[in-house]
Amino acid sequence: MGLNVVDDKISRGAIFLSLLKLCFKRPSLFKRALKSVYVEGKLLESRIPKASLKEIIHGKSSVILQDAFLKKGNLFSLYELNAICSLASYFNPKNLLEIGTFDGNTTLQLALNTAKNTTIHTLDLEEGITKMPTSRCDLPYIQNQEKKVRKFQNTEVAYKITQHIGDSTAYDFELFTKEGPLDFIFIDAGHSYACVKSDTENAFKVLSDQGIILWHDYIPWCKGVYSYLNELSLTHTLLHIQDTTLVLYARAR
Ligand SMILES: C[S@@+](CC[C@H](N)C(=O)[O-])C[C@H]1O[C@@H](n2cnc3c(N)ncnc32)[C@H](O)[C@@H]1O
Repeated sequence: MGLNVVDDKISRGAIFLSLLKLCFKRPSLFKRALKSVYVEGKLLESRIPKASLKEIIHGKSSVILQDAFLKKGNLFSLYELNAICSLASYFNPKNLLEIGTFDGNTTLQLALNTAKNTTIHTLDLEEGITKMPTSRCDLPYIQNQEKKVRKFQNTEVAYKITQHIGDSTAYDFELFTKEGPLDFIFIDAGHSYACVKSDTENAFKVLSDQGIILWHDYIPWCKGVYSYLNELSLTHTLLHIQDTTLVLYARAR
């Protein structure tokens, strides 16, 4: 399999040792570090302001979930699923893209919470062929064979969804824009810094003027995503949705 695997997930053991060292060497930093993550001599702190889901969607939420039994590889909680579906319903996208389908659980819920004529493109890597550095934590999901039966197949919303197979870092994003630019893009594929950066840069190229981008896994031990989004927040207005690992960018806001 053509994979260049990088170990960029920080283990809890490494975090603990780092904190222990810091406790003796720089006690003043220790307290701050408890709220963030200290690794390799650096404090990984969130730079992205938080906002509650309720604030963002002005208190309106009415979500339908179907067959929403979460497993490892899906969103972390039903609250995250509720958040992404509420945002989809609130922003009412015409064209939506998910990068990283996995078993199609989120795809199905997004399809249930968008308009009848919303088109949904979703992309996944099946054969594991990518030249980009791949985070070790992504391997079980890339190599998972069960995901090939997607949850949205044979449902009443399957007609909205086009499944694409390929490496997002080498894919032609113009193929997603046949019905127009994308209003809602969910980035949840490769979690290495290089993959998230590539997916984000491609997403910006096909995003509509009113479009939004959401990223999953903004959490210190998902170092690639965490570092990349902290950097992006220096040039773009991002919001970390409270009690989730989701980060939101809204182009027109
Ligand atoms: C965490 S799972 C996605 C979970 C899904 N979005 C959900 O909410 O249930 C990540 C998926 O991204 C896919 N993936 C990883 N690297 C990729 C790449 N370079 N291009 C396309 N898909 C990729 C994996 O095969 C895996 O199915």
